[in-house]
Amino acid sequence: MEKIVILTGAGISAESGLGTFRDEGGLWALHAIEDVATPEGFARDPGLVHRFYNARRAQAAQATPNPAHEALARLQAGFHGDLWIVTQNVDDLHEKAGSSNVLHMHGSLSGALCGACDHRWPAPLEMAPGDQCPDCGAPAARPDIVWFGEIPYHMERIWELVETADIFAAIGTSGQVYPAAAFAQHAGRAGAHCVELNLEDSINARDFAETRRGPASTLVPEWVDEILSH
Ligand code: APR
Repeated sequence: MEKIVILTGAGISAESGLGTFRDEGGLWALHAIEDVATPEGFARDPGLVHRFYNARRAQAAQATPNPAHEALARLQAGFHGDLWIVTQNVDDLHEKAGSSNVLHMHGSLSGALCGACDHRWPAPLEMAPGDQCPDCGAPAARPDIVWFGEIPYHMERIWELVETADIFAAIGTSGQVYPAAAFAQHAGRAGAHCVELNLEDSINARDFAETRRGPASTLVPEWVDEILSH
């Protein structure tokens, strides 16, 4: 059965109004990664980190899928093979568009995690320092987001998908964060056709046999129509 594996990054949600990280005025221009996206930053100032994710959680709750998310859901519905989305994003726009088989390797804004017992539960819209874990009671609730220096989720399954894909597509990612930035090279070496749909060259564009440049809301529906017309 043909297998398509699609890696998505912040660029696919840009046209839904959610900021990317490294574009002009992106999140990492406004906030220091070490303050809001590391365990050390959370230990140092949990209030700052909760406020950062509370704002992103509220924004994501208001956001709606754009034609790129919708096209991937249409692809999954019409494709008679195996389709997986591996997303670096922590928003739920793929799910809102109707996609399933979505693996969030960096966690999700809709999740909360206990720093003491690893219990997970649906995150309230607002979290604050000292919030208690509903399971063990420890005042150790944190966003269920994978921070720099932590191990991304679902990696065994993701590597298996990457190594067995017939088509590997990367959409809206700058290719600057590993392990996701290595997926195209591994997939290509294992025989996949690798295509990059992105507004501009990622730094690993050379790992792709095919690159298409433009906004995801235009590129992805066109690409999906081509696949479904085969
Ligand atoms: N359509 C397509 N691509 C776009 C669009 C758009 N409308 N807008 C921006 N892009 C592209 C940019 O050209 C850039 O290459 O999306 C990419 C966004 O790159 P980043 O901001 O680096 O986001 P991403 O690659 O997802 O970052 C990966 O870094 O900080 C960590 O955990 C964070 O998951 C994130 C990871």
